[in-house]
Amino acid sequence: MTDDSNEVDLPLKAIARRGAISSTTSFESTDGMFNIEKDSRLVKLFNKAVENNLLFTHLDENERIQVFSVMSCRSYSSDEIIIDQNNEHEYFYIIEEGEVDVYADDQLIASFGECSSFGELALIQNASRFMTIKAKTNVKLWTLLGETYRKILMDITMNKRKVYDEFLIRVPILQTLNEVERFIVADSLESVQYEDGDIVVKQGELGDDFFLIVEGNCIVYQKACEYSEGVEIDTLGPGDYFGEIALLCNRARVATLVAQGVLRCVKINRERFERVLGPIREILQRNIPRYNSIISLEQLHIIIDNKKKDC
Ligand code: CMP
Repeated sequence: MTDDSNEVDLPLKAIARRGAISSTTSFESTDGMFNIEKDSRLVKLFNKAVENNLLFTHLDENERIQVFSVMSCRSYSSDEIIIDQNNEHEYFYIIEEGEVDVYADDQLIASFGECSSFGELALIQNASRFMTIKAKTNVKLWTLLGETYRKILMDITMNKRKVYDEFLIRVPILQTLNEVERFIVADSLESVQYEDGDIVVKQGELGDDFFLIVEGNCIVYQKACEYSEGVEIDTLGPGDYFGEIALLCNRARVATLVAQGVLRCVKINRERFERVLGPIREILQRNIPRYNSIISLEQLHIIIDNKKKDC
């Protein structure tokens, strides 16, 4: 095995000092690697390699970049053993170049090529290996030490809780939540930013996200029917929420929201919304008829009443 850490574009120490990727902690893996900036080509490759991996799908782009930043580059020659099924499992791997073969008790069971990943059990715990992985060709891999991944995740979670708790505690709709419930909400938030004029949600379209406004404003437009002009009916600002109707009532968006200037929000998807906002579901539901809506409120009421079955 060759340690190809000098294949990265910048000197390690310089980057470690400079803190190329923002993170509150500088992580050092057991092989002495610090945060190493990855260029956009590598970030794209890593994202593709982990796109269906549950250990990465809950991370947003910035968080994934924090994890990618501590990955080290290794090269193996053809036929070299990368993982031996008789030893403990410490690393997760992404293949940048070449192919590897997977054996279970000397039986070839699969091959992986460029842009694939393997060894994810090591990210959860030091796992025994069930398979031997051998380089089929010369390969260039990126490795992530399981322990480092777990430290970063812990740091991301603690940081997110701290930052978001200061915000969530001031959001009026969340006033009834206790600290633990707020932490659970904080863990589920994904931050999103819109530029002036961006359409955040569009009336008539299906939607799967609930939003809280962190900074900036958005204007609410509504059309009475499909062919009429949109009318400005409201402006929302920091601490306000939107997008609950589509989720609570399982229907298309009832209004269009457009960013006025830069708009920063946090959002929760449908699945997490069900899980973490249960304690305020009733309050959200009760508030719907209070909207100054030009769609007949009766229509919404009917939906809400009917939805007592499914709303
Ligand atoms: P939803 O229908 O999911 O998407 C559009 C959102 O606009 C809607 O949920 C509400 O959260 C929000 N909204 C804000 N003001 C109004 C309003 N006056 N009438 C209806 N919806 C509104």
